Amino acid sequence: MNSCKIAVVGATGAVGQVFLDIAEQRNFPIDEIRLCASTRSVGKKLRFKSQEVAVELCTPEVLDEVDFAFISASGDVSREMAPLAAKHGTVAIDDSSAFRMDVDVPLVVPEVNADDLSNHKGIVAIPNCSTTPLVMVLNPLRKKSSIKRVVVDTFQSVTGTGTAALIEMKHQSKAVLDDNPITTKEYPHQIAFNVLPHIEPFQENGYTREEMKMLYETQKILHDSNILVSATCVRVPVAVSHSEAIHIEFQDPITPSEVTEILENKPGIRIVDDPFSDVYPMPIDAAGGDDVLVGRIRKDISHPNGIAMWVVCDNLRKGAALNAIQIAEEMMKRDVVSESNWRK
Ligand SMILES: NC(=O)c1ccc[n+]([C@@H]2O[C@H](COP(=O)([O-])OP(=O)(O)OC[C@H]3O[C@@H](n4cnc5c(N)ncnc54)[C@H](OP(=O)(O)O)[C@@H]3O)[C@@H](O)[C@H]2O)c1
Repeated sequence: MNSCKIAVVGATGAVGQVFLDIAEQRNFPIDEIRLCASTRSVGKKLRFKSQEVAVELCTPEVLDEVDFAFISASGDVSREMAPLAAKHGTVAIDDSSAFRMDVDVPLVVPEVNADDLSNHKGIVAIPNCSTTPLVMVLNPLRKKSSIKRVVVDTFQSVTGTGTAALIEMKHQSKAVLDDNPITTKEYPHQIAFNVLPHIEPFQENGYTREEMKMLYETQKILHDSNILVSATCVRVPVAVSHSEAIHIEFQDPITPSEVTEILENKPGIRIVDDPFSDVYPMPIDAAGGDDVLVGRIRKDISHPNGIAMWVVCDNLRKGAALNAIQIAEEMMKRDVVSESNWRK
């Protein structure tokens, strides 16, 4: 397949808007585009390339007429629309967590486990925006020595929650600077000038759902249920890009220069690591770019086989929209999009 018809469900949202930019920048081969959102946005015109496209509801007719439905709306919308798309022979590439752990749904980062795309049954899931950069660095490294345990602390931007959270952070920041009262809606506490060690609901074991996703999704993508991951996910008052402090315990000793050498030529990874010249990955540098930035690579002094590093990635691009487009590109290359090639 050389070109395709697509529907973008959630086209007015934070991920949807970035999706349209990236599709244009990469010249993703689109014959026809349908833009869908909620009833609030129906009729609104969005720009794609030089065209104005009217927003519509995502109906079975729309899903029937396209090859791919890129769904970035909410878990509920995905639960309804993704199976409907598959039923109509359309591949749903889904950004929500609704199907990620479903055994029939590949959970894919193309640089890591593109081969899993051959087993799709109409739905492909995109990992959580904090899991993607983690597996991008773990995968090449585990070929040098198997990974026993990972401790990861994330510093996640407000656009990980969506457009409304970004607006709330801006309003709160202005209110704080002007000495005005704060209102909160998107988070349980003020996010401006604050950090919240709380992303998604708390579970019985004291971790949050976001933190447990980092364990389960990493194991699924890497096909390795022996890798243990303990995460603490923290929301920070940053607009775009998630940062992660990652501590990896390997089976055998591995040096920081070996880590750099392994990662520096990997697609989608850029080493930004000269701390004595104040050079390290930062959210403002990752935002708007496609690469996962890796720096502060050092020996973990608390373990003989340990490595510590600092990783930053644009959550809306590689964490969501870019990964979705790369999945579609890979599926077209592998010729696994047409219904006749996957409906068995
Ligand atoms: N943000 C990230 O970094 C990130 C990363 C990975 C995955 N995701 C996932 O991507 C999804 C979207 O996130 P977001 O940050 O883009 O959220 P967002 O900014 O809040 O946008 C939500 C989008 O969904 C649309 N929508 C709401 N109800 C709908 C319905 N019934 N039918 C069709 N569209 C509907 C909204 O349309 P209206 O404008 O009409 O309300 C809007 O376009 C979520 O599942 C999220 O978990 C996000």
